Amino acid sequence: MKFLSILVLTAAGSVMALPRGGDDNGNGNGRNFKNATASADGNGTSAKSACRQLAHLTELTSLAANQTRLDEVTKNNATRADTIKAKAATAATQLAALQANSTLLDTCNQVFAVSAMADSCDQIKELTKLQALVANQTALDEKSKGNATRADSLKAKAAAGVTVLVELQANATLTQFCAVEQTKDDCGEMAKLQKQVDRAAANATAVDSSKFKGNSTRSAEKVQAKAEEAQTKLAALKSNATLVAECAKLGDDSATGSSASTPSGGAEAATSVSTTDSPASTSSSAAALTGAAGSLQPIGTMVSLAAAFFLGILVLRI
Ligand SMILES: *[C@@H]1O[C@H](CO)[C@@H](O)[C@H](O)[C@H]1NC(C)=O
Ligand SMILES: *[C@@H]1O[C@H](CO)[C@@H](O)[C@H](O)[C@H]1NC(C)=O
Ligand SMILES: *[C@@H]1O[C@H](CO)[C@@H](O)[C@H](O)[C@H]1NC(C)=O
Ligand SMILES: *[C@@H]1O[C@H](CO)[C@@H](O)[C@H](O)[C@H]1NC(C)=O
Ligand SMILES: *[C@@H]1O[C@H](CO)[C@@H](O)[C@H](O)[C@H]1NC(C)=O
Ligand SMILES: *[C@@H]1O[C@H](CO)[C@@H](O)[C@H](O)[C@H]1NC(C)=O
Ligand SMILES: *[C@@H]1O[C@H](CO)[C@@H](O)[C@H](O)[C@H]1NC(C)=O
Ligand SMILES: *[C@@H]1O[C@H](CO)[C@@H](O)[C@H](O)[C@H]1NC(C)=O
Ligand SMILES: *[C@@H]1O[C@H](CO)[C@@H](O)[C@H](O)[C@H]1NC(C)=O
Ligand SMILES: *[C@@H]1O[C@H](CO)[C@@H](O)[C@H](O)[C@H]1NC(C)=O
Ligand SMILES: *[C@@H]1O[C@H](CO)[C@@H](O)[C@H](O)[C@H]1NC(C)=O
Repeated sequence: MKFLSILVLTAAGSVMALPRGGDDNGNGNGRNFKNATASADGNGTSAKSACRQLAHLTELTSLAANQTRLDEVTKNNATRADTIKAKAATAATQLAALQANSTLLDTCNQVFAVSAMADSCDQIKELTKLQALVANQTALDEKSKGNATRADSLKAKAAAGVTVLVELQANATLTQFCAVEQTKDDCGEMAKLQKQVDRAAANATAVDSSKFKGNSTRSAEKVQAKAEEAQTKLAALKSNATLVAECAKLGDDSATGSSASTPSGGAEAATSVSTTDSPASTSSSAAALTGAAGSLQPIGTMVSLAAAFFLGILVLRI
């Protein structure tokens, strides 16, 4: 699977850029990679768990087969390299079994694609923010605390990011995906704020003064301040009629929150990807999203899944 190996290599590359932490010991006891058929957070029936396992074993195998990378990762420690090779040898059967399942591979490619796109959305946001920062002298001065060296470094970073940003933004598949995710985020945020405001109005949280050493005056003040803040944010979001309409379509408009059951990670991924792959109109995106749980859950799942991939690959580094 071409995409899979590209993704895994990319992930491994960024992991290698991370500072090394913790102590390294060769046997990796207790911090071994997870066995999908026997893991605690899900068993072999979970597609997500199987995809994580697949990414993990693929990376392990690719690492063990590349002496250059092995030397880098183990800092030329042959004992540790041998441990990795032994693990890869043991994992070969399991990897072959997973790779023989084309349904699983399809699902995982979708899962990884969504996860990668979500990462790209974050990258767009960060780069855009950086461009805005360096374009605003006041903001730049604030951020760099008047230190010209730091300001120049931020400017250089922004300049280096322009090409990447332009390239990412030129990709309609990606920007459509990001727009849908942003809408889902905003709808989730609106629902959360609405709940907060409702709760404050019902005075439900004011009663809990225990956090303020039993000072109910202070508790009430805090609750009031928070409610006002929530109300302001909520009003700002609600002033966007398009957003309100989109959220209503998603069934995520009210404070009730979505109670739709979350399908498996693979199904979520498949829905999102097929949505963005087609030149989808806004309404068909919304319909597809409703099918994908109609809430923030899908992207949250993807984010934590991506984190799990990185964690899994980190653990590899015994
Ligand atoms: C190589 O790694 C093993 C296992 O982590 C460790 O016991 C050994 O001290 C390391 N050797 C060197 C030269 O760092
Ligand atoms: C994973 O778990 C299964 C079932 O417990 C076991 O048969 C298999 O050997 C394990 N694989 C690895 C690589 O530990
Ligand atoms: C997998 O998990 C489900 C639900 O937790 C359970 O019913 C099933 O027996 C498990 N399968 C295996 C092989 O452990
Ligand atoms: C092995 O890893 C190195 C360093 O990451 C990379 O440059 C090289 O292309 C890899 N070789 C193969 C055959 O994948
Ligand atoms: C292949 O993977 C899918 C999705 O994880 C799973 O439902 C199915 O049982 C697997 N098939 C086999 C033969 O293991
Ligand atoms: C520039 O940044 C300052 C401080 O963050 C902010 O108050 C101001 O609105 C920004 N100006 C523009 C044009 O965005
Ligand atoms: C400005 O920032 C640079 C880089 O962070 C630092 O090395 C330098 O000491 C700072 N200068 C002042 C005057 O704080
Ligand atoms: C656009 O982005 C998608 C998702 O990240 C990617 O699969 C596709 O190859 C990109 N298209 C171009 C032309 O870069
Ligand atoms: C909310 O709770 C506070 C503290 O318990 C109380 O003083 C206040 O009257 C209540 N407000 C309403 C509208 O019930
Ligand atoms: C309770 O909090 C209020 C407001 O923060 C403060 O004015 C008051 O002194 C506090 N009372 C006690 C007993 O700490
Ligand atoms: C309003 O919401 C829509 C849908 O999320 C979004 O595309 C648009 O950028 C928002 N407009 C403003 C001014 O924030």
